[in-house]
Amino acid sequence: MGKQRLKSGEKILFSIFGAFFVLGVIAFIGMEVVRSRTATPMFVSTTHFNFSPVGLEGSKIYREARCNSCHRALRMGTNMGLNLDGIGSRRSLQWIEGFLNDPEKVYGAATLDHGSALAGPKEANYVAKLPKENLRKIAVFLSELTADSGSAVAKAPPQERSGFIDQMVGTFAPESWKEKYQDVRTKPPQEAPHEAPHENGADVKDSEKK
Ligand code: HEC
Repeated sequence: MGKQRLKSGEKILFSIFGAFFVLGVIAFIGMEVVRSRTATPMFVSTTHFNFSPVGLEGSKIYREARCNSCHRALRMGTNMGLNLDGIGSRRSLQWIEGFLNDPEKVYGAATLDHGSALAGPKEANYVAKLPKENLRKIAVFLSELTADSGSAVAKAPPQERSGFIDQMVGTFAPESWKEKYQDVRTKPPQEAPHEAPHENGADVKDSEKK
């Protein structure tokens, strides 16, 4: 059977696809050229750090203790555990140090990987067994990883009041909810319920921090 010639419809389809492909390649190269030449960053960085000498020591211990094999901090590491960038704006130093020493007590719930020395074969149960002094330095390091309020990694809501959200709450939240739920923007964070420590563990000091 001889070679089949393309029908004209196929030719049109293939050339449209080809044109898109070529355009895509050109656009990608163009964007990369612009990106490499521009002085302004493409993405606004919402996480910050300013390390004290102890914090700097803590960062070394943190690296040596293989925390990065599960966590992400300073944009390095993995996402197996929680992202620790910005944790200093979510949790107080005392909370972090308390968690590292006795995770389950501080969470008030069973943990997945962290755990006390006695708690079963958890992968990160070695953390609580590290020397107390090292855990304190790691906690200082982590508390110095801050984020802008309202950014994705800082769960604290933005300081400013949003007229739009006020209006939405007024429109969609029935009166009965007002007794049942409290507005996180007005509620003092330390009164947060403990069943969801990931979201509500911040204390007053955290929300006052920038
Ligand atoms: C095997 C994976 C793993 C390793 C290794 C690990 N973590 Fe974690 N980490 C987790 C997970 C998962 C959680 C969530 C709590 C849980 O279920 O254990 C967590 C939670 C945390 C939290 C609480 C975060 C929050 O806001 O609730 C801190 C702080 C923390 N880890 C620090 C560390 C430090 C410091 C090290 C290294 C010494 C470390 N982790 C090593 C998996 C890990």
